[in-house]
Amino acid sequence: MPNYTTDLSFNFNSPTKIVFGAGAVNDIGPEMDSLNKKRAVIITDEGLAATGMIDRAKDILGKRCVGIFPEVKPDTGVYIIDKAVKYAKGVDADILISIGGGSSIDTAKAMAILLTEGGKLEDYQGWQILKRPLMPHIAVPTTAGTGSEVTYVAVVKDHDRGIKLVFGDNHLIPNTAILDPELTVNLPPDITASTGMDALSHAIESIHSLQRQPMTDGLALQAIRMIFNYLAISVENGKDIAARGQMQIAATMAGIAFSNAQLGIVHAMAHAVGARFGVPHGVANAILLPYGMEYNLGVCEKEYAAIADAAGIDVHKKTKREAAEMAIYAVKRLTEEIGLPTKLSDVNVTKEGFAICAENAMADPSIVYNSRTPSGPDDILKLLEKAW
Ligand SMILES: [Fe+2]
Repeated sequence: MPNYTTDLSFNFNSPTKIVFGAGAVNDIGPEMDSLNKKRAVIITDEGLAATGMIDRAKDILGKRCVGIFPEVKPDTGVYIIDKAVKYAKGVDADILISIGGGSSIDTAKAMAILLTEGGKLEDYQGWQILKRPLMPHIAVPTTAGTGSEVTYVAVVKDHDRGIKLVFGDNHLIPNTAILDPELTVNLPPDITASTGMDALSHAIESIHSLQRQPMTDGLALQAIRMIFNYLAISVENGKDIAARGQMQIAATMAGIAFSNAQLGIVHAMAHAVGARFGVPHGVANAILLPYGMEYNLGVCEKEYAAIADAAGIDVHKKTKREAAEMAIYAVKRLTEEIGLPTKLSDVNVTKEGFAICAENAMADPSIVYNSRTPSGPDDILKLLEKAW
């Protein structure tokens, strides 16, 4: 592992201003002013638009709000972005405010590309292609999980071609993230649980990534501490603003950690299983996380022992190996405690798709950063069988 060696070197990028607090949504206006922008379009989904949350944001913005685009769908798509861009151009917007889950935030990220550079979205697919800052973007997440409010990645479905376009560029990182726990209190328990496990997977994968470094370790370990303390409480009592707030901060910290350290085998498998069987991202990660950790155990004992400590386990007098195994067990226990499935067979996954999933996981960009390099698709196949 590269973390504590003399040849340690890294870049750490985290340009997003983070504004946190119950009622922080009231700060969207001043935050927009500080970016020196005057004409905002709110990007959101139909469900949220019906809750009154968007009306509230519109009232807060007053004349600064020149339009609302409430048509984002769960997996945002090229056709949605094209429509939204046309709308934003029509009202002469100079800033985007996304309010919602990862899909709304990713929509605004993709819109910012086209509103600044023009052309077609597919031309900007790939890694670090953009050359200059984009139209400013304030992200207001209403879930605590994806970390999209601070990451450099956006994923957009191309429904015509049946593929996902992935954009990874530092210019996509939102300028400001407004974390207001009051916006998450109505998330149902199952979504709270699965998005929370996505955040835990980001934190743990940051730690077993080859690109981990002390700054990302610090963020990830604190995120793990907070998730083990507050995820179950948030699932149990969604109205607990303090717990909701801790989860939002944890998800954002885990987002910064993985945006710099990258991910690993768990996300590689979760992406493949999600695409093939439609398993929600957080659920796939929750199921696969302990198996990915077991796979890495031989090369991550020290790291997983630190995770056990962060998870609140008494590791005193335990060997590193014992503590590491306890961390894996704690992840399984947490998944059960918050009522999520723990086996792929619980979520309508059938074994006939495993071979293609294993191939796709091996081709996923995340696999490159995993601390143990799989020798081939067979390694993944065995893990999927175990998780079934
Ligand atoms: Fe994720």
